[in-house]
Amino acid sequence: MQTRSDIIDLHRKHNFFPWTAQDAVGDPIVMARAKGVEFWDVDGKRYLDFSSQLMNMNIGHGHPKVIEAIKEQAESLAFCYPQYATEVKGRAAEKLASLAPGDLNKVLWTLGGSESIENAVKMARMYTGRSKIVTRYRSYHGASLGSSSMSGDPRRLPHEPGIPGIVRVHDPYAYRCPFGYAPEGNLDAYVNHVIQTIEFEGPETVAAILMESVTGSSGLIIPPQGYWQAIAEYARSKGILIIADEVMAGFGRTGKMFAIEHYDVVPDLMVVAKGLTCGYIPLGAVIARDHVARFFDKNMLSCGLTYNGHPVGCAAALATMQVYSDENLVENSRVQGDRMAAHLNRLKDKHKSVGDVRSIGLFGVIECVKDRTTREPMAPWNAKASEMGAMSKVAARLKERGLSTFVRWNWVFTVPPLCITDADLDEGIAIIDEALNLADEGYTG
Ligand SMILES: Cc1ncc(COP(=O)(O)O)c(C=O)c1O
Repeated sequence: MQTRSDIIDLHRKHNFFPWTAQDAVGDPIVMARAKGVEFWDVDGKRYLDFSSQLMNMNIGHGHPKVIEAIKEQAESLAFCYPQYATEVKGRAAEKLASLAPGDLNKVLWTLGGSESIENAVKMARMYTGRSKIVTRYRSYHGASLGSSSMSGDPRRLPHEPGIPGIVRVHDPYAYRCPFGYAPEGNLDAYVNHVIQTIEFEGPETVAAILMESVTGSSGLIIPPQGYWQAIAEYARSKGILIIADEVMAGFGRTGKMFAIEHYDVVPDLMVVAKGLTCGYIPLGAVIARDHVARFFDKNMLSCGLTYNGHPVGCAAALATMQVYSDENLVENSRVQGDRMAAHLNRLKDKHKSVGDVRSIGLFGVIECVKDRTTREPMAPWNAKASEMGAMSKVAARLKERGLSTFVRWNWVFTVPPLCITDADLDEGIAIIDEALNLADEGYTG
C-alpha cells in the first residue's frame, strides 16, 4: 500500500494537474473511497463533499444500483461499433427523452460536456446554414478548443483567437450588473442588450444562442423570470436556435429536473453531461427537438465518435436516471435547497464579508467582498493564487475542517449531492460559517 506522499510524488512525476502551473499544485487531497455525501482520504480523514466533486456527483458516491448496472453491462457487452444498435442505448435515450421537456426526443451521445457543446453547435450550424454563435461573458462551456472559444470565462484566454464566429454578450448578473444595480435585476436591459447585439451582428448570420440555463462556475447567476422566455421568443422570430447548456445545472441540481424548466422554455437543443451518469462512467448527450431531428432525416449528421452511445456509459445513465426518481432526489433538492437558502441568508446577515448569496435548489454560492458598499471582491476576478488573499485562508480552513468545496476567486460554492440530509447540510454550513470569520478579517470596508 502506497503512502500519501508516495502517491503525490507519482502524480508530480507522471500526471498533469489541470488548470494550474504544475509547481503551484499545493497539497492535493488523496482520495481513497467515498459513499453518499462523504469521502475519505488515504489516511482515513473524512470530508463532506459540498461541491459534488465537480458539481457532477448529484446522486452521491458509491450508489450500488449504478455500480451493479455497470458491472452487468461490462460483462455482457462492454463495447459496440457506434452504428450498431443496442438495447441499452435505445432504452437510455428513451428514458432521457422522457425526462427532457417538450419534444426534446432524439439523443446524440458523447463522452462529456465539451464534446456535447461542440456537437450541439455543429448541429445548429448545419440546421440553420449560419455560423455565428452568441454566448455570454460569464460562462463556461468546456475545455476543448471549440467549447472553450464558446465560453466567456478567462480559461479561454490562452487559446485565443480560438474558433471564429463567437459573439459574446453581458450576463443577467444583478449584483454586478453592467446596467446598474437593481436588487431584482434589470430584465429589460438584459434582454434588449442581447437583442441589440444580435441586430448589429445581423440575425440572419446567427445560428444559435448558447447559454447555461443557470450559470454555474462563472458565479452562479440565476436569470430573472422572463429572461429566457423573451430571448427564446426573439430567437424564434429570427430563425435562431436556442441551445441550453444543462451540463452543470441539469439533473435536479436546481430543484427541477432541468433548470430551463423554471422558465417554461423548450430549447431547440439541450446539452447534458455531469449528472447524467454522475461520473460513474463519462457520458454526455445532445438532445434535439423534433424539428431539428427531422432535418437530419435527409441531411447527413456530420457528427460521430468512436465511443458514441458507449454501452457501459448508457447502462450507467439508465441506472442513474432511475435513481433520481426512485429516491425523490429532485424533490430533496428543492426541500434541502430551501433550507440551504435560509442558511446562506443567515450567513450573509452574520458575516460582513458576505456581499451576496445566491441559490436555486442545491446550487448555491457565497460571494465575499472587501467592502459591502463598493462591492470590491475579496479576491479579484481571474485572481492568480497569489492574489487570493483571505479567500486562500477560507479555502484552507474548509479543507482542514473536512469540507471539500469549490472556492473560486471570491466565491464559495455550496453544491452538495442531492441526497444530502438535514444533519449533513447543517454540519457543512457550520464549517463554512466558521471559515467565513477569516474572510471577515480581510474586510476593509
Ligand atoms: C456549464 C458547463 N458546460 C460544459 C462543461 C464542460 O463539461 P466537461 O468538463 O464534461 O467537458 C462544463 C464543465 O464544468 C460546464 O460546467
